Amino acid sequence: MTATVSATAAPGVGPAAAVRPAARLSTAKPGGRRHLLSIADLDREGIEEILRLTDMFVEVSERPIPRVPALRGKTVVSLFFEDSTRTRLSFEMAAKRLSADTMSFSVSTSAVKKGESLRDTVETIEAMGIDAIVVRHSAAGVPWQIANWTEGAAVINGGDGWHEHPTQALLDCYTIRQQRGRLDGQRIAIVGDIRHSRVARSDVLAFTALGASVTLVAPPTLLPPTLAGWPVEVSHRLDEVLPSCDVVYLLRLQRERMQEALLPSLREYTATYGLTRQRARLLVPGALIMHPGPVNRGVEIAAEVADQPNSVITRQVRNGVAVRMAVLYLLLGSGVDLGV
Ligand code: NCD
Repeated sequence: MTATVSATAAPGVGPAAAVRPAARLSTAKPGGRRHLLSIADLDREGIEEILRLTDMFVEVSERPIPRVPALRGKTVVSLFFEDSTRTRLSFEMAAKRLSADTMSFSVSTSAVKKGESLRDTVETIEAMGIDAIVVRHSAAGVPWQIANWTEGAAVINGGDGWHEHPTQALLDCYTIRQQRGRLDGQRIAIVGDIRHSRVARSDVLAFTALGASVTLVAPPTLLPPTLAGWPVEVSHRLDEVLPSCDVVYLLRLQRERMQEALLPSLREYTATYGLTRQRARLLVPGALIMHPGPVNRGVEIAAEVADQPNSVITRQVRNGVAVRMAVLYLLLGSGVDLGV
């Protein structure tokens, strides 16, 4: 289901002050709450409107006091059942910059350790009166389940298993648009462990929705068992792809999700698919190097390549806060004056 969300910005909030986003975010039932569960819930127009709203929050983030009262009185909970540094901190910082209250749930210190079920945990948290839950879980589909169990809270998918990571894809789109002007016509190579990557799944949907062409570059063992329905090309030769791409997007080997030996050795992987210093010279000037983090320097990317001027890895992180402000604002603050 999709629903139209309207947000009105107050005068004085940067150049895009009059923007009226109408992004389509998924709802559990018609006319019901709004969630961000999958990139597939957003069409091209919906993604573009989030990116336009992000421009405003980038401007807010650059102020000496980067805070607006848009979500005062709202509470955002991060419910992370899997490790995270940047996604969790980024959502919490985004919520704080919008003046929302934040609560953080850590599995290792919670009643989950005493055998409490996911459903009871969610219902307990919701009973405290919260407005949004950002959830990360190792099982695909958990954010959808939580959206069914909760009554009033908006649910945001912060990464579910190998499945999706929609806000990562939105910040990646924003970063490419910021650096290269647009996504239309960009040739993007996504390299590495596609099979276990929720980032790759959300990125392919978002990049192609905005008109980019995507080539997946990986050994056959690190590709999904079937690519039916994926609007992509596939290559096993990074050296042949690099000279003609505008963006190279590296992925970490997600060894915590590998149940069998999928690679002969790390050294061989790096030799064939790593963005080594020598290989990075095959890129055309101005081509971007991206990575969602965490980076394993010396494996999928050489340490010095990750720090090259055309590497925008830290910019992705910076933009992530503004993108998440835009998403929280759309879900919780629609119609509320930004009040700046
Ligand atoms: C990724 C994730 O957790 O899906 N990181 C992130 O959120 N920025 C990618 C990874 O773990 O390799």
